[in-house]
Amino acid sequence: MSTYGTGIAYEGAIHAAISAGRQDMLPSYTQLNKRLFQQEIWKNPSITSYIVSSEMNIIDALKKIKSNKYSFLLSVNEYGKLNGALDSSDIHDCLIEYQNLDTSIGEIPIHEVKTINTTDSFDVVIDMFQNQGAEYLAVVDNDYVLSNIITKYHFHLLLLEDIAWDFRFDFFSLDEGKLLQDVVNRPWGFYKSLFISDFTQVKVISLLPGQEISLQKHFKREEYWTIVRGKGIMTVDDQSYFVEKGRQIFIPKEAIHRIRNTQATGNLVLIEAQLGDYFGEDDIVRLRDKYGRD
Ligand SMILES: [Fe+2]
Repeated sequence: MSTYGTGIAYEGAIHAAISAGRQDMLPSYTQLNKRLFQQEIWKNPSITSYIVSSEMNIIDALKKIKSNKYSFLLSVNEYGKLNGALDSSDIHDCLIEYQNLDTSIGEIPIHEVKTINTTDSFDVVIDMFQNQGAEYLAVVDNDYVLSNIITKYHFHLLLLEDIAWDFRFDFFSLDEGKLLQDVVNRPWGFYKSLFISDFTQVKVISLLPGQEISLQKHFKREEYWTIVRGKGIMTVDDQSYFVEKGRQIFIPKEAIHRIRNTQATGNLVLIEAQLGDYFGEDDIVRLRDKYGRD
């Protein structure tokens, strides 16, 4: 059995030593462990589920890949140096071919990984994701030792949330759910959140012919609407007026508002930008509702 990569418990002991800042707690005082400790390479617990040593066996690797969200693994050597990447189909192919559960990761063909250097600027990160087709990047130091991982979703969240680039950031702490909202059905049609952050939520809202949202108001957000398709009647406080594609409407906090699709056919579609500090659906105070909702 090798000194390295002998399973999740072993790695857990390394992490515990790193987070406690105690080199004497390392499970064995190997070159790799010293290196990991000095550079705090695996300090971020989020990326440990994406890293395997080439000597790890296939079953532990499968467990790891099952527990990670993006279904890839990066293989590193005994010094933490990046070897390459593999995904679950690589492991499955290997199982079929060798039919041996003791096979180690080092025996499986691996792929090249797109990398950036810890000293690279954010411009390089942008180029890799936008022009070089990267789905994820391994962040390596000058010795090609793996320091962090960032996926395309994380990159998009950095852009949208305006988070300053720092290669040590725990990118896995970002909530990809903010980018991946489902379509929500309502009695009047449907909406989809395009983006949610601490300071804004942007939605596309689509009303079926003849339908209307509830007469409502919000305490914690103002809304900026742009009608992008169709025609209807808009109410804001005591005013009602005709609106159509291209019309922009400002709805201040606490203003009572509603829109109705007056068309016989075709949806009325609008883009809504909410500004405020809370965007939960429970900040909708319904004053009247055609569908009997509270
Ligand atoms: Fe509203």
